[in-house]
Amino acid sequence: MSVRKADLKDVHVVLSVINKSNAEAYRKIIPAEYFKEPIFTLDKLVKRFDEMTFYVYELEGKIVGVAALQIVSEDMGQARLVYILPEYQRRGIGTSLVTHIEAEAKRLGLKRLRVPYVDMNAYWAIKFYQKLGYEIVDKREKPWGYDFFFEKKL
Ligand SMILES: CC(C)(COP(=O)(O)OP(=O)(O)OC[C@H]1O[C@@H](n2cnc3c(N)ncnc32)[C@H](O)[C@@H]1OP(=O)(O)O)[C@@H](O)C(=O)NCCC(=O)NCCS
Repeated sequence: MSVRKADLKDVHVVLSVINKSNAEAYRKIIPAEYFKEPIFTLDKLVKRFDEMTFYVYELEGKIVGVAALQIVSEDMGQARLVYILPEYQRRGIGTSLVTHIEAEAKRLGLKRLRVPYVDMNAYWAIKFYQKLGYEIVDKREKPWGYDFFFEKKL
């Protein structure tokens, strides 16, 4: 298994993976006036490390993917910030990270996992979560369309 829990020492690499993966994927679908690059600053990400548990996927010692588990209630968790470096996508790494988070969530006694804010035009992410058994449970408007919220029973 190449998934491990991240700690604050990994924060710079995690930041770089998130920012690279986000820019490459979302530049294509978010109108320029709303597109933010980089999506995260170091300060903002350090705060997220306090709010959720980050996991990283390592390949030959290099972090190539990240994902986080956030507990939102006694029975529900959220999978957040699932980002794989562009050149390592489509090799099952995202599946390994989310599956790992699901197992952790289950171990903690959570009954459901939610994935919030999936852009309606991010067809790759929609297919990814549907293949993993997630269903759309909500749709929220934003200035350039809407986001889907996905959920899965654990
Ligand atoms: C979405 C993402 C995390 C998927 O990770 P990944 O490691 O590439 O995904 P996997 O290799 O585990 O793919 C599993 C399945 O998801 C679907 N999928 C993944 N990428 C896809 C793409 N670009 N186009 C269509 N389907 C895709 C496929 O069904 C795939 O199975 P298959 O390869 O057997 O057809 C990755 O594409 C990514 O980091 N994207 C940019 C950031 C992002 O959008 N994150 C999600 C935020 S909510």
